[in-house]
Amino acid sequence: MAAQRIAVIAGDGIGTEVIAAGLRVLDALRGSHPELDLHYTAFPWGTAYYREYGRYMPEDGLDHLRGFDAIYFGAVGSPDVPDALSLWQLLIPMRRGFDQYVNLRPVRLLAGVASPLAHATPGAIDLVVVRENTEGEYSEVGGRIYSGTPREIAVQESIFSRYGVERVVRYAFTLARDRQRGRHVVGATKSNGIRVTMPFFDEVFREVAAEFPDVTSTLMHADALAAQLVLRPERFDVIVGSNLLGDILSEIAAAITGAIGIAPSANLDPDRRFPSLFEPIHGSAPDIAGQGIANPIGAIWAAALMLEHLGHPAAAEGILAAIEATTTDGITTPDLAGQANTDGVTEAIIARLDANASRTQPGTAS
Ligand code: NAI
Ligand code: MG
Repeated sequence: MAAQRIAVIAGDGIGTEVIAAGLRVLDALRGSHPELDLHYTAFPWGTAYYREYGRYMPEDGLDHLRGFDAIYFGAVGSPDVPDALSLWQLLIPMRRGFDQYVNLRPVRLLAGVASPLAHATPGAIDLVVVRENTEGEYSEVGGRIYSGTPREIAVQESIFSRYGVERVVRYAFTLARDRQRGRHVVGATKSNGIRVTMPFFDEVFREVAAEFPDVTSTLMHADALAAQLVLRPERFDVIVGSNLLGDILSEIAAAITGAIGIAPSANLDPDRRFPSLFEPIHGSAPDIAGQGIANPIGAIWAAALMLEHLGHPAAAEGILAAIEATTTDGITTPDLAGQANTDGVTEAIIARLDANASRTQPGTAS
């Protein structure tokens, strides 16, 4: 396989710490996976860049990234700059400019990680939330009139296109078919209350479902779905929802599997016209930045998602196995009630990569 080029945007705060950890793991992986030929280019975009140049990335920033195979992203945001600036000047332009229409959040309860749910056992929670990432409730269409008077009115339009709903729902069904776990898709809806866009979503969902006779599916109202995620998370395999519903549900799903520091996400252009973006879901965590205690697992897991997207599923699986071997051995950062720091967890994962690899080498199994 030809060399693959990765744009690295570590960003702010613990973003820089966890991305460094992820890159160490990717480097170490070359020992057991010599086929990996990844080339990195770092971009210093983030709040420091903003202070110097007045923007979070150059005006032609997307053009710099366009030729890459993937973007590996840390986190952006600083307490002294409004969050809307960093979000709308850096992350949203990449997601929309590169038409990353799937926000993918795999959720798995790892052995050794305590769930806030008393009844949850490792392995039982293993699901993926597929969130629409380019339209829906997150639109700039709308406005206010009579501002500052008692008659003030705010209107915000939701945008649901057949094109947009169909492609994200089809992605979810394809994923369920290929995951072979439950082969089950739940569509998050709210067609009882939202009377125009959500029945439309349901209609398109049913049409796409008919194309996948080998995948079972159902639509659930998002409120009931949220409750079921807490009460019976083991019944879910793939969940697909609009931008807003998917956002909320993926946050609940991450919460029931432990801590924000371990959860990864991918912003995908499944059609591969543009680079996709891989990141931990957490932010820059200014409260612990610089202390060397950030949990690197979310960023390392995000690197595994990136490898999967780049066509290296075995290497990706190796990372996940090493992560779980590490949590199983109780080597975790303080957010998971452990004693280790970022380096300690990273080194433990690297050591377990080698262990996993040597176990599968020919000649050692006799
Ligand atoms: P946050 O995710 O940065 O932190 C929330 C809490 O979780 C903090 O107490 C933090 O210490 C802890 N935490 C997060 N990640 C951790 C890790 N890997 N290891 C250990 N503890 C961890 O969210 P917050 O505080 O709301 O936002 C801080 C900044 O990050 C803001 O500027 C915000 O806009 C930005 N942000 C950026 C995101 C991105 O770049 N995708 C996503 C979320 C927030
Ligand atoms: Mg969110």
